[in-house]
Amino acid sequence: MTSHTHPPLPQPQIQLGKDGPLVGVQGLGCMGMSEFYGTTDETEARATLERALELGVTMFDTADMYGLGANETFLKPFLQAHRDEVFIATKFGYTRTPENPHDWSVDNRPEHIRSAVDRSLQRLGIDTIDLYYMHRRHEAVPLEDSVGTMAELVRLGKVRWLGLSAVTASELRAASAIHPITALQSEWSVFTREIELKVIPAAVELGTALVPYSPLGRGMLTGKGFTASLSEQDARQMFPRFSPENLSTNLKLVARIEEAAAALGATTAQVALAWIYAQSRKLGATAVPIPGTRKRSRLEENLAATTLTLSDDVMAMLEPLGRSVQGVAV
Ligand SMILES: NC(=O)c1ccc[n+]([C@@H]2O[C@H](COP(=O)([O-])OP(=O)(O)OC[C@H]3O[C@@H](n4cnc5c(N)ncnc54)[C@H](OP(=O)(O)O)[C@@H]3O)[C@@H](O)[C@H]2O)c1
Repeated sequence: MTSHTHPPLPQPQIQLGKDGPLVGVQGLGCMGMSEFYGTTDETEARATLERALELGVTMFDTADMYGLGANETFLKPFLQAHRDEVFIATKFGYTRTPENPHDWSVDNRPEHIRSAVDRSLQRLGIDTIDLYYMHRRHEAVPLEDSVGTMAELVRLGKVRWLGLSAVTASELRAASAIHPITALQSEWSVFTREIELKVIPAAVELGTALVPYSPLGRGMLTGKGFTASLSEQDARQMFPRFSPENLSTNLKLVARIEEAAAALGATTAQVALAWIYAQSRKLGATAVPIPGTRKRSRLEENLAATTLTLSDDVMAMLEPLGRSVQGVAV
């Protein structure tokens, strides 16, 4: 359903951070195409990539650990067909491998980064990664070593811009003193507000763009009773916000968003995404959310959120919801 506007016009572009490139104002999260959220119709997922590009999405988000490398490999033909139009973002840090899929250790050592980038480049079939993120920080490795090695990759031409994911404000500041950090990818949505306190002010001060991940609360913020269709293999079954004891409270909060959406002639997902654009403007930040979908219809629905304006009354209704959400975000 694309009830707000249909079909969306090609997306406007926005500068990613003070020294970064122009990208479409909404990116596409590709993780679910290979892992975590149930089975994927590969043909439809590939069509979704193509449709996204047609509609002005330029930033496509992956990581070396999604599908244990399979997500980067999945994107290779798309990149080969459209290398000049696509802004590809990937990440290193987790050490999961096909041999050890349940090993969620983090490795930020220079030798790991140097080999991880080469593996990502090979799987993606490209010479240069546009945006390379440290997926998670390991405190045992000084930022001088990890971000210093990332900066070395820029000098070598293997990477164009640098990003960090889920770091604190002080880590962002310290990293920025070593090399400009173009983008900070952290969870941010109407249900997950922690970064507004310290991280977003630091990003604004440093000219780092925000790339909100899971902007739809891993699907919860789309309403429409989607949780009823979660398969047993779906990773969300194990997440605290989706546990039986927390889910009913959280879905009551989603129902409030659904009501507001209905009154606006929009969908729940569109209101959740429009909230990010409105809240980032309020905080003086640049935000390029990366909702994840494997379906063209949902992609179009999500892109239409870029033209949805939320009134002060709707923003006020949404404001307290995050404080009532049960279960930590993971
Ligand atoms: N840096 C990190 O640590 C980190 C962590 C998590 C995610 N990420 C990145 O952020 C991206 C987005 O996050 P996410 O995928 O976790 O969560 P999300 O974007 O909040 O939600 C994705 C879920 O919502 C569903 N969905 C999307 N649009 C919908 C719509 N309009 N109506 C109904 N359902 C809809 C998707 O299903 P379908 O695919 O079936 O449409 C999928 O199950 C990921 O793809 C990944 O690239 C990064």
